[in-house]
Amino acid sequence: MSFATYQQVVLASGNPGKIREIQAILADHPIVPQSAFNVADAEETGTTFVENAILKARNAALHCKLPAIADDSGLVVDALNGAPGVISARYAGVGAGDRDNLDKLLRELEGVPDELRTARFICVMVFMEHANDPCPVIAQGVWEGRILDHAVGENGFGYDPVFWVPEQGCASAQLPAALKNALSHRGQALKRLSALIKARKNG
Ligand code: IMP
Repeated sequence: MSFATYQQVVLASGNPGKIREIQAILADHPIVPQSAFNVADAEETGTTFVENAILKARNAALHCKLPAIADDSGLVVDALNGAPGVISARYAGVGAGDRDNLDKLLRELEGVPDELRTARFICVMVFMEHANDPCPVIAQGVWEGRILDHAVGENGFGYDPVFWVPEQGCASAQLPAALKNALSHRGQALKRLSALIKARKNG
């Protein structure tokens, strides 16, 4: 894995579900969550995933004085004009939990027929060598699916219990962790990020 070029890489996230998934995908190269350095979360003031991912990576690199990777991700629902989008983590309000956000989504989609419940998870991953890195490495992953009308499954986090994965015939929360990591927006973005970092180092 190309991250191995760096002695230590900090992960700009405090979300336990994400940390678990990213660490599982980067199994051969330990990353240190920013919480280990007592770094406060960056304010997510951007209106796009890429802006917020850069803000998070820069914040972590600045305070930890280390190369940093950050992920900004969320759910984009066609029938809601792209909502919850960049506010996926706080859709039901600041401090809302996964269940509150998911319940709000189901309420907003009440009465919307199956064929119009198309949606996708987006993940943008950013790597910055230092806080002033003028050319962050940026990779995106997209995972297409549909929103169910009720929650099923116990695995994953966030909106996984209502995200139907057509090619597997089940909800994301019913997938074993390794399979979700192989298919997901986050898994795709990390693989691309890793390849891009490798290309940059060799370039
Ligand atoms: P972020 O920390 O601003 O990137 O927020 C991402 C939010 O999007 C999470 O808190 C979840 O609500 C949602 N999300 C992102 N990726 C996933 C996933 O893989 N499964 C379920 N929900 C996700």
